[in-house]
Amino acid sequence: MKIRLDKWLGALNLGSRKQVQELVRAGKVRADGQTVRDPGESFDPETTVLEVGGKLLDGRLVRHVMLHKPAGVLTAARDPKQPTVMDLLDPVYARLGCMPVGRLDKDTTGLLLLTTDGELNHRLLSPERHVYKRYRATVAGTLTAADVSRFAEGLDLGDFTALPAELRILSAGEDTSEAEVTVREGKFHQVKRMFGAVDHEVLTLHRCSFGPLELDPGLQPGEWRELTEEETKALLDAAKMNGDKA
Ligand code: URA
Repeated sequence: MKIRLDKWLGALNLGSRKQVQELVRAGKVRADGQTVRDPGESFDPETTVLEVGGKLLDGRLVRHVMLHKPAGVLTAARDPKQPTVMDLLDPVYARLGCMPVGRLDKDTTGLLLLTTDGELNHRLLSPERHVYKRYRATVAGTLTAADVSRFAEGLDLGDFTALPAELRILSAGEDTSEAEVTVREGKFHQVKRMFGAVDHEVLTLHRCSFGPLELDPGLQPGEWRELTEEETKALLDAAKMNGDKA
């Protein structure tokens, strides 16, 4: 989508509307190799090659980021006392309005998606979209086939009944068990509450996937990268944003 050059430069934090207009009128801005002198001319920020003051700039306003969230940081845009996931990213993402899609608890690790696209964010969280999330959990006690059935039936959590979820036991020891669980909701403490309902305390929780995205095994805790083109396309498909707005 095309936007006015002065609005674009403002969104990139290059100054106030007045300052960026002066920059353009002074001939300091080039778009696709051409000097632009009209701040009201429109361009597509996602595809136009932008140079300001002779320097090539990444002018894209739409960014989607995959973060390997470490334990100990909050999923929040900012917090006065504690580190947040935004502190792990380059500050440009906060300036562009990149926001976490849903939240992971402070002690939960794994895949957290962040995006500048508010509509995409909203759609991925909407209960009707049924975006699947897969977690790996270590829990106290011995998981059994009865637990698998109870997850599959949909657990009564008091204030709501969780939708049927797939529980796959990876190991069932005397003291602790390991499992993978796939849910299609994202209510507060959902997975911990589901295990709590079958009397297993969650000791560690790690998100392996979110919709079509798998956590990149190359990302260490605290590391992030932008989504690839294929990942972006798959995500937009999951949110039904590739033409189909239904
Ligand atoms: N479910 C939880 O209980 N915690 C998380 O962080 C994510 C899902």
